[in-house]
Amino acid sequence: MTHSRIIGTGRYLPEKVVSNKDLELTIDTSDQWIQERTGIAQRHVAAEGERSSHMGLAAALQALEMAEVSADEIDLIVVGTTTPDKSFPSTACLIQKQLGTSGPAAFDVQAACSGFIYALDLADRQIRTGAASKALVIGAEKLSKLVNWDDRGTAVLFGDGAGAVVLSASQEEGVLATHIHSEGEFEDLLYVCTEDGFIKMDGNAVFRKAVSKFDEMAREMMANHDLDDAEIDWLVPHQANLRIIKAAAKKVGLPMERVIVTVDQHANTSSASIPLALDTAVRDGRIKKGDLLLMEAFGAGFTWGSALVRF
Ligand code: ACO
Repeated sequence: MTHSRIIGTGRYLPEKVVSNKDLELTIDTSDQWIQERTGIAQRHVAAEGERSSHMGLAAALQALEMAEVSADEIDLIVVGTTTPDKSFPSTACLIQKQLGTSGPAAFDVQAACSGFIYALDLADRQIRTGAASKALVIGAEKLSKLVNWDDRGTAVLFGDGAGAVVLSASQEEGVLATHIHSEGEFEDLLYVCTEDGFIKMDGNAVFRKAVSKFDEMAREMMANHDLDDAEIDWLVPHQANLRIIKAAAKKVGLPMERVIVTVDQHANTSSASIPLALDTAVRDGRIKKGDLLLMEAFGAGFTWGSALVRF
């Protein structure tokens, strides 16, 4: 039986770092408030001409290097992004151009903060059915262009960056299961306003919904795959808020020592947050080959999704 397996990871974070202290200078907020309510200490912000495709490419190149795979061998590129460079062509096609390859399918998936899990689900199915053999699955975001930097309710939460994995056909186990869902009726709780182009959010309502969906995701994965929480080595959750992550860990029954947390350093990078967290923990040696990972994401739409992965 053919599986899809992650054989390389990569990440890119823009050079510019904006700390909570920096934000204190421009909006009515405090480092203490941000840390207590969200766990965020800083975020990376892309330079003016730096776009999602540039960040996605940089992450992809790192993942290809780790996988020892050349760009020519890639026969599928799926990019999760809610901040494409342009309406069209897709960010995936722009990355393909920068990789200097052509032919294989390249397209974007827009599922807000669940974009990477949606992209992984699609790429896994393409590989398992034999339609592709090596895929780049990327999450790349320039959320700073959607943030009203004068709105303290949202400006403190988001950051820019990209993460990527190389997914390869394999006889070894890899992606064991994915579940993706959406519920369009709550558009008004979290959206980009068409008038001013900025993120609008009912933070409290989104928080409550996120916690309940992380609970649902854990139950779904545990029940469908006859899993015991003790079998999971690492929870790699979407990084929106440390309090949401702690609630998610509790639902899965994992201590925080077995949860990958990067929200303090990266803030919420939407589709990029899970692959950024994954790469961080792979490169610092916490996640090792053979470990069982549970990835969980929740975002605007609402969308949510989880993946069980043997690394
Ligand atoms: N600095 C200081 N004070 C602030 C700030 C700020 N940046 N923002 C809001 N406040 C004030 C509010 O005005 C309010 O003041 P008041 O009591 O005088 O009215 C007070 O702080 C409390 O505000 P709440 O909104 O009740 O604070 P809460 O504890 O809910 O935290 C937060 C707000 C951090 C936004 C939280 O609701 C949250 O994280 N929600 C999830 C949102 C999210 O993650 N969205 C991202 C996309 S979805 C996803 O990725 C899961």
